Amino acid sequence: MTDILFKLPEIYSNAKQLCERISKQEMQCEYEITETTGVTENCLVFGNNLNYMKYLIDRGMSGKINMIYSDPPFFSKSDYSINVKAGSGKRKMVIARNPAFSDKWKNGMEEYLTEITAALMLMHELLDERGSIFVHLDWHSTHYIKVIMDAVFGEKNFINEIIWNYKSGGVSKKYFARKHDTILFYSKSRDYFFEPQQEKSYNRGLKPYRFKGVKEYKDTVGWYTLVNMKDVWQIDMVGRTSSERTGYATQKPEALIKRILTSVTKEGDLCADFYCGSGTLGAVCHKMGRRYILCDSGVPAVTAAHKRLLELKSAHAFMSETPALSDNFCADISIDRIEGLYDSVTAAITGISYRDLELPGIALENSDLMETLIDNHYDQLIEYWCVDCDYDGKVFRPDIYRFSSAGMIDVAVEIPVSMVKNLTIRVVDKFGNVFQKSGIRV
Ligand SMILES: C[S@@+](CC[C@H](N)C(=O)[O-])C[C@H]1O[C@@H](n2cnc3c(N)ncnc32)[C@H](O)[C@@H]1O
Repeated sequence: MTDILFKLPEIYSNAKQLCERISKQEMQCEYEITETTGVTENCLVFGNNLNYMKYLIDRGMSGKINMIYSDPPFFSKSDYSINVKAGSGKRKMVIARNPAFSDKWKNGMEEYLTEITAALMLMHELLDERGSIFVHLDWHSTHYIKVIMDAVFGEKNFINEIIWNYKSGGVSKKYFARKHDTILFYSKSRDYFFEPQQEKSYNRGLKPYRFKGVKEYKDTVGWYTLVNMKDVWQIDMVGRTSSERTGYATQKPEALIKRILTSVTKEGDLCADFYCGSGTLGAVCHKMGRRYILCDSGVPAVTAAHKRLLELKSAHAFMSETPALSDNFCADISIDRIEGLYDSVTAAITGISYRDLELPGIALENSDLMETLIDNHYDQLIEYWCVDCDYDGKVFRPDIYRFSSAGMIDVAVEIPVSMVKNLTIRVVDKFGNVFQKSGIRV
């Protein structure tokens, strides 16, 4: 570890070679558009970000992205997982632990830095001349990545080292409580877009100063003036009871991303997050009228992000590097036609099953509960499901969705017969397994 400083040139050149290797690969991967919710330029991609960025570059996207937010693994040497739960409120029980991503590196810091450096090189290529990048890290690796950012983006394009200060998390008796992350803000050129923000600065003693020409305001705390926003940001983490909470480990607060987007983007700009996790950047882009590209290599991340965007009714395409459907998971579906004044079809999920309860990679904590749920409360194992009334056999375009919320989900929907052409149903379970059945006849 101590010799990393001397290895930085080698890490840099290995990362360059890694990018070149990806460029030379026959055709690394073709992305299949598996789902789209309307005409859109937004997309969520399941796959490795190096491959996907190369794919974008090959399709003429160099210099086309206005803002990149990057929240990679921090070199924490930990594994992150999601507790898959059933029930609601205080009666929620953990069924299994679903690994989200690993931040353990066989060849230590060297391997970690090589991978991140390669990603930063591709991000630099994709960024617009007036664009900027925010790399979110903490004490584990900020110091090395800052040096690498200077090399990839240029020392002169360093703008800020933002300190995000929060209250949550543990403390130690051996050192000061670690309560901040570092966000490195770089631009592509000196001509970058930046809209300065203002914040409150409370007067000493919270009393009015009454200086000539200085505007002062008062709120419930006291008197303040408005000053240009500083590089230390106090924003709460996503709380346990927050409506934002997706359950994804390492989820970042929307307020943090909103502040970045307000400062460096305009409406309609294209923003990207190639380590998107639960899709926080996409959610905020949707709310603020920006376009987005999201990518993650983990099933739990992509499942959480996809559900979040569907819930927000944010039109996007879902693309996948590897086949997304699972052959282990199956849903029983019934279709009933109700004729009369209002001619309709009821589509319902009547059960779910698994060919093998040994779900790959998933640590089942309570197999009795899992079996009981499958037999009696299968609805609690469904994360979301959707219906494409006129599936073209290639791209799933959902017309209707149902989501699990507070442990409850509707398992039946009524559809006017006039809408039904090639009825196809897609069901996603709490582990991210996907089942699809098409050609359901009325
Ligand atoms: C710290 S989390 C991001 C959390 C996210 N900002 C949020 O608000 O939910 C880092 C993410 O990077 C993903 N990841 C790590 N290496 C990756 C790679 N090579 N390609 C794509 N995603 C990757 C992990 O699966 C993980 O979801």
